Amino acid sequence: MTINHFFDALVVNKKDEDFSMDIKKLNFDDLPEGEVFIRVHYSSVNYKDSLASIPNGKIIHTYPQVPGIDLAGEVVSSTDDRYKEGDPVIATSYEIGVSHFGGYSQYARIPSKWIVPLPKGLSLKESMIIGTAGITAALSVQSLVENDITPEVGKILVTGATGGVGSFAIAILSKLGYEVVASTGKEEKHDFLKRLGADSIVSREEVYDGSVKALGKQKWTAAVDPVGGEGLASILSQIQYGGSVAVSGLAGGNNVPTTVFPFIIRGINLLGIDSVYCPMETRQKIWKLLATEYKPVDMNVLMQQEITIEQLPSVLPTLLKGGAVGRTIVKL
Ligand SMILES: NC(=O)c1ccc[n+]([C@@H]2O[C@H](COP(=O)([O-])OP(=O)(O)OC[C@H]3O[C@@H](n4cnc5c(N)ncnc54)[C@H](OP(=O)(O)O)[C@@H]3O)[C@@H](O)[C@H]2O)c1
Repeated sequence: MTINHFFDALVVNKKDEDFSMDIKKLNFDDLPEGEVFIRVHYSSVNYKDSLASIPNGKIIHTYPQVPGIDLAGEVVSSTDDRYKEGDPVIATSYEIGVSHFGGYSQYARIPSKWIVPLPKGLSLKESMIIGTAGITAALSVQSLVENDITPEVGKILVTGATGGVGSFAIAILSKLGYEVVASTGKEEKHDFLKRLGADSIVSREEVYDGSVKALGKQKWTAAVDPVGGEGLASILSQIQYGGSVAVSGLAGGNNVPTTVFPFIIRGINLLGIDSVYCPMETRQKIWKLLATEYKPVDMNVLMQQEITIEQLPSVLPTLLKGGAVGRTIVKL
């Protein structure tokens, strides 16, 4: 393999009030410590990456930084014997793209304890169509399964349905045979949701009309909720007796004005989902599921855009206004 010492990376910087985001030429010596040196082939765009693209996103720990919380590529060299030149590998989350140079870069140096070998059944490109959003969706589904939510038990509500986590959750649940109700704010994307496998579609207002009852009509058996906020309080009041809600995000806010009633009167479970520090053993199990029984039937429906590093500065901020549809991957 020919190795160039200079390569392209997206660099964000902030000093006092000055914020910048530019594609720069970096040198191998600019990369942080890590046992595994990787030629990055693909990265992806997640909500967190969009926060990295604005001055007050509060997601970047140290500047200057190369964002991109996901990356997939080929090992160039490794000081850890478990990896050798040419191995296809994936790395997502931990400190990547927030305090350790991330995936919006043609090369990366990553600690081996953060790396997952590409599972059989997935290409590098497919692994980034999945990325953190797909892992989070898979962890949410797995958590519902562990809480006895089987396909026979009833309707599963998925909020933020057109977003990365929501769209992936629909594809996985549908493949597993669940009855999926997608909640979206985008009327024009109903076809996309149907193609993913949603059985029916409701508006955001049907889930949360602006007021939260302590207990409401029992509409859903379980929910995958990456939106959070007041809508989550409303969902909790609508879950059937003994049901569960897997919550992973705050696209709709972080304040959840609920009461104890859904928990103590209907025995509802609120399941917290974290993909960032999710233990390696669980991570590997989830990747294996994503390469086999959870693998969406048609990845191309989920992949809405493949962009270049040059397009990142204009694409990244679009997610922050609820504009995400499916998954966007970045070819490096
Ligand atoms: N816990 C974890 O490990 C983890 C991992 C990944 C992501 N997350 C979090 O999960 C959330 C979603 O991530 P994502 O990658 O799916 O983001 P995304 O691709 O930007 O999608 C978010 C979706 O939420 C909906 N939405 C946005 N604003 C809303 C509002 N004010 N009220 C109701 N719905 C709204 C929109 O879908 P519709 O228009 O279809 O309603 C939007 O497309 C983010 O907060 C992210 O930080 C957490």
